[in-house]
Amino acid sequence: MKKKKIFSGVQPSAIPTIGNYIGAMKHFVDLQDDYDCTYCIVNQHAITVPQDPKKLKQQTRSLAALYIALGLDPNKSTIFVQSEVPAHAQAAWIVQCNVGIGELERMTQYKDKSQKQESVSAGLLTYPPLMVADIVLYNADAVPVGEDQKQHLELTRDFVNRFNSRYGNGNQLLVLPEPLIPKEGARVMSLQTPTKKMSKSDKNIKEYISLLDEPKVIRKKIKSAVTDSSGVISYDPIEKPGVSNLLTIYSAFTNQSIPELVKQYDGVGYGQFKTDLGDAIVAVLEPIQEKYYALLDSDELDAILDEGAKKANLVANKTLHKMERAIGFAR
Ligand code: TYM
Repeated sequence: MKKKKIFSGVQPSAIPTIGNYIGAMKHFVDLQDDYDCTYCIVNQHAITVPQDPKKLKQQTRSLAALYIALGLDPNKSTIFVQSEVPAHAQAAWIVQCNVGIGELERMTQYKDKSQKQESVSAGLLTYPPLMVADIVLYNADAVPVGEDQKQHLELTRDFVNRFNSRYGNGNQLLVLPEPLIPKEGARVMSLQTPTKKMSKSDKNIKEYISLLDEPKVIRKKIKSAVTDSSGVISYDPIEKPGVSNLLTIYSAFTNQSIPELVKQYDGVGYGQFKTDLGDAIVAVLEPIQEKYYALLDSDELDAILDEGAKKANLVANKTLHKMERAIGFAR
């Protein structure tokens, strides 16, 4: 039987955090054996807000090295940089012409991000159609993402249904994708303000742990994470958002269930719990960081990205041409 297809991406706008890892990237690795996976470094998405060109270039390479260091295997998955596959921007135009401005203005991420910008680029509004294009070009059956991308996946499904009914003559031209949102860890919260989402672009670096933070920094950030004064380790995201968030992180890094952890830490203080959690994160991230630094400046990384772009271009162009024929672009 043919394997189902997976597509996902991460923006190289900053170094990914443990939120990105728990909500999405950890699952990218797990899905590789059972699915035909394509993972993208979405640098075209990153420029919807201002970026320093030198930094963007460096972070794009850094994210590619991190993908591999985390365990993405180029023999199993296609790994590539979005701007090296022109079909994304071409298909995004077709998508834009088939979604309404109202649909885009309703996107909560657009509302949030546009409030934070002094001047809002048109690209920030038309970002979801580019994401729709990313997904449909690779005929993705499923898209592993955190909860904040759910609305964009709903837009993708609306677009696919609309495109197929407008242009398909009864055929399923484009594949209808499902979001794959984890039951736990789909929304990892900030360490300092546990009522808001952890974000790689936060100004205060104590809000998040980046996948490249040094072990001593990781331990320190966990030590200073906001908890509460009850001193009891239990899971209650409304009453105890800080401790509940730390339990979610602990569970993701050790694969122990939250009830198991709560039992284990019955009667134990926050100090010991945080020390153990810091150790658990370091135990996973330290070997990843070693691999990352070994790969970063290697020719091997360029070869992987060259090969990935080649494979991605083949698949993406095929779908793009199908879309173009359907809308009447072919002569
Ligand atoms: P980005 O780069 O913001 O985040 C990458 C992935 O990490 C997830 N995520 C989180 N999960 C749990 N807790 C958090 N605090 C947290 N913060 C982020 C995101 O949900 C995402 O899955 N638009 C996307 C990138 C993209 C994409 C795509 C994804 C572009 N095209 C096509 C899937 C398919 C984004 O900005 O992700």
